[in-house]
Amino acid sequence: MRKAIIAGNWKMNKTPTEAAALVESLKPLVADASCDVVVCVPAVDIPAAKAAAQGSNIHIGAQNVHFAESGAYTGELSAAMLKEVGVEYVIIGHSERRQYFGETDATVNQRVLAAVKAGLKVILCVGEKKEEREAGYTDALVEYQTLIALTGLDKKQVQSIVIAYEPVWAIGTGLVATDEQANETIGVIRAALARKYGKAVANKVRIQYGGSMKPANAKGLMAQPEIDGGLIGGASLKAKDFAAIVNYDKD
Ligand code: PGA
Repeated sequence: MRKAIIAGNWKMNKTPTEAAALVESLKPLVADASCDVVVCVPAVDIPAAKAAAQGSNIHIGAQNVHFAESGAYTGELSAAMLKEVGVEYVIIGHSERRQYFGETDATVNQRVLAAVKAGLKVILCVGEKKEEREAGYTDALVEYQTLIALTGLDKKQVQSIVIAYEPVWAIGTGLVATDEQANETIGVIRAALARKYGKAVANKVRIQYGGSMKPANAKGLMAQPEIDGGLIGGASLKAKDFAAIVNYDKD
């Protein structure tokens, strides 16, 4: 019913030359994918990655976007800038942005609104820290993060958002949520969407899992009914590993 979406988050890795090479080697490996394939690359890599992906099924994403249209925001990039260089997707609210760069639920919301207005497809990241899970706050927290981030969007716009549920304790740690844990929390997010926007809308929103997803665990996670894809960090930096995740439904 929902088309799966597998996205790579390269974080601060790969120069433009390396980015072009990685996209080139990915192309034949993911050509038969039945899911949407996205790579979210460092901003300076976008032109090289875009040129390399030309004519393929690989879509290019960015890793952040500013909420203002222009102005005195040293070091930031606007949605229009990303759009003009051919970016289709943008990650917003990644836990590393929240943790290291002071991103808050309010600024995440502003960025989501700016991206949607400019016609970018948003990959909105939410997820709990280890101590929050242990204290029993996971469900309340992911609901709160999700609904605040979407404030101001209409139902149609909400349907177009991709949500990445990424438990912070599973990112880059090798610890992965169990298939059931990931499915359950994604179900909580979907139920929150259903209460706020109605079941029909909630059933259309694609929700990915992210956090130490790799070829060995992709099949199990993707078999879960609520999980519609993955946001892949470390394993997206190797063409073979990323392709194996993209091809999770093939032998
Ligand atoms: P990881 O990162 O796959 O390296 O855990 C995922 C992410 O941060 O999006």
